[in-house]
Amino acid sequence: MKKSSVLVTGCAGFIGSNFVAAFEKRFPDFPIIGIDDFSTGRREALSPHITFYEGSICDERLVGKIFRKHKPKYVFHFAALPRVSYSVEFPAKTTLVNVYGTVLLLEHSRDYNVKRFIYSSSSSVYGGAKRMPTKEKENPPNPVSPYALEKYAGEPFCRIFSGLYGLDTVSLRYFNVFGPGQYGDSSYSTVISAWLEGTYFPKKRKIFLEGDGRQSRDFCFVGNVVDANIQAMRFHGKFSGEVFNIAEGQRTSLLAVKKAIEQMTNRKLYLEKHPPRKGDVRHTHADISKAREWFGYNPKFDFKTGLGKTVEWYMLRAVENAH
Ligand SMILES: NC(=O)c1ccc[n+]([C@@H]2O[C@H](COP(=O)([O-])OP(=O)(O)OC[C@H]3O[C@@H](n4cnc5c(N)ncnc54)[C@H](O)[C@@H]3O)[C@@H](O)[C@H]2O)c1
Repeated sequence: MKKSSVLVTGCAGFIGSNFVAAFEKRFPDFPIIGIDDFSTGRREALSPHITFYEGSICDERLVGKIFRKHKPKYVFHFAALPRVSYSVEFPAKTTLVNVYGTVLLLEHSRDYNVKRFIYSSSSSVYGGAKRMPTKEKENPPNPVSPYALEKYAGEPFCRIFSGLYGLDTVSLRYFNVFGPGQYGDSSYSTVISAWLEGTYFPKKRKIFLEGDGRQSRDFCFVGNVVDANIQAMRFHGKFSGEVFNIAEGQRTSLLAVKKAIEQMTNRKLYLEKHPPRKGDVRHTHADISKAREWFGYNPKFDFKTGLGKTVEWYMLRAVENAH
């Protein structure tokens, strides 16, 4: 009998490639099928050990071929056009990938009896939660950007597919993920990667601070997100579309991030002062007790440990680049 496999969408992206690397180590006998169109992912992040399809999750023929041929047991859906500002510029394009692409994958997962569909949602669906630490139940979604709305749309779609067709689905709302493999060289980059990129590759980018730096985020190391996905796969019950916060459950101010980077890199960060970003939320801070209670999620990596690993990765890149 053919071994059951897993499908990883967005396998050349930041979280997808970290997931593949960890999954390969933990489940060497589980074949991994990957799909990515390199719209934001990178060829060098691709694992050579997986069966890879280059193309879009919106390509019905390609998606159909992958499901027919491999009949994956689990689908880990990381592929997306994931930047808020990009979605503000191109809402139609991001809706196509982030909503239509997700539904197309759900439809095939239904047709090929996938055991569980694990969806990457985002803390942006809260749109600035009223209560902190933010609990899933107390804070109804209030998306304020096309990206947030598109990510949110995937959640009720997952729940509907569970209710209508019995496909088990789960939505994991990640908060501000960072770690090795996250490049900081685009105008859409997140703060930690942008500051480290500017520190190690100063010619490539100028670094800045928006606002007074006292705003804070629940930064989540990518290793915790990877673990959450694996634990969600192994859960014995049924999720039936449940939604979970995935974060560290702590918040760190941007000024504290700056200080920690300066200490770890032994370099001073010279940040240009920029006005606060329009519509930016002041703080994010997740309550992660629901994921803990349901499937034993317990973030192994705290902020400082995660930052140390991220700095190491940037240092290595800088050394490689110098040769
Ligand atoms: N990084 C974060 O802080 C964060 C926070 C919350 C949620 N998420 C979600 O996690 C997931 C992964 O995010 P990431 O940070 O790794 O982003 P990423 O941009 O590094 O990865 C996304 C991957 O999807 C691929 N992709 C995009 N459109 C595609 C298409 N049409 N067909 C096939 N592949 C396509 C890209 O090429 C890329 O490799 C996304 O769904 C994102 O919305 C990320």
